[in-house]
Amino acid sequence: MKKIVISTGGGDAPGLNAVIYAVVRAAYSRGWEVYGSRSGYMGLLDLDELVRLTPEKVQDITSTGGTILGSTNKGNPFAMPVENLAGETQIHDVSDRIMENFKRMGFFCHIAVGGDGSLEIAHRFAEKGMPVIGVPKTIDNDLEATRLTFGFDTAVSTATEAIDKLHSTAKSHDRVMVVEVMGRESGWIALNSGISGGADVILIPEITFDVDKVCEKINENELHGKHYAIVVVAEGAKEKHGAVVCKDDCELGRQEVILGGIAECVADEIKVKTGKDTRYLVLGHLQRGGSPTTFDRLLALRFGAAAVRLAEAGTFDHMVALAPPGMNAVPIAEAIKSRKKVPLDNDKVLTAREIGICLGD
Ligand code: F6P
Repeated sequence: MKKIVISTGGGDAPGLNAVIYAVVRAAYSRGWEVYGSRSGYMGLLDLDELVRLTPEKVQDITSTGGTILGSTNKGNPFAMPVENLAGETQIHDVSDRIMENFKRMGFFCHIAVGGDGSLEIAHRFAEKGMPVIGVPKTIDNDLEATRLTFGFDTAVSTATEAIDKLHSTAKSHDRVMVVEVMGRESGWIALNSGISGGADVILIPEITFDVDKVCEKINENELHGKHYAIVVVAEGAKEKHGAVVCKDDCELGRQEVILGGIAECVADEIKVKTGKDTRYLVLGHLQRGGSPTTFDRLLALRFGAAAVRLAEAGTFDHMVALAPPGMNAVPIAEAIKSRKKVPLDNDKVLTAREIGICLGD
């Protein structure tokens, strides 16, 4: 009987469980067995962390958030933080052990579900001889090779709902509310939720902003009898000649810096420059939580089924990608080359400007 293993790596995203469900069902319908590796590659490093996934085990998980396998963004097997007997943490390459366990278990394919960081790791394993298939996942929607990633629609819906709710407080108190949303170096979440949620200002990483322009918009609102404003700022947005705002505590074994704090900076400046009562809030991980939207569930199920099709065809070191109306297979090395940014001539950018939203420039 053919055996495959599936792992979920990086930050969780609504729809991961739907991918797992589809992979298990599609594999079992071919008569294959499926195993899940807990916490990214941990199950392949320590076989006690490997779980057998059967259709019964994955029943009813499609609508649930998170991942039943657990995930980590500090689990790079090529640079794994390992504690020695003296309690000191050192970085080790444990990839050979994983290759040995993969062979010992008799797997013929590894389906790696993750963002660009996890896919890069998957590609390195493919170079070591592991037959790998990637499934793109990220709420940020910043993978160039696929039209969309699952998790994004849910994150945008959550952010839009939060922005909708902020209108009442902003209006009741004549306040400026600054909302920080996720997205790393891409402004997709901010742009989509900001336009849909009726923001006055949207600041995205692709357009460096000038706080004076933001304040001009807030003052213009006043002239039109609107005494409040909603500012949506992407966590990776930068002021002109400024830098991204991030946490300075860098977690060991983590590839990316932890972004966050731009909303507070923007709110402080707005308060000083306009004299308006200004508050900020950071939506943070709320955007990654909860049940996936119908769109994300369906996309995740389609990705899972497509990944099993690629496994059957032996199209390894490739990632499934949404290419409407169908699915594509893209070499993982291609898929991780560049991040999908918001093009400045994108229709959503044009729409925002035309309906009077200030983009900070
Ligand atoms: O990539 C998904 C994401 O949620 C980003 O939008 C955000 O910057 C990052 O992960 C947060 O990571 P963590 O959960 O490790 O704080």
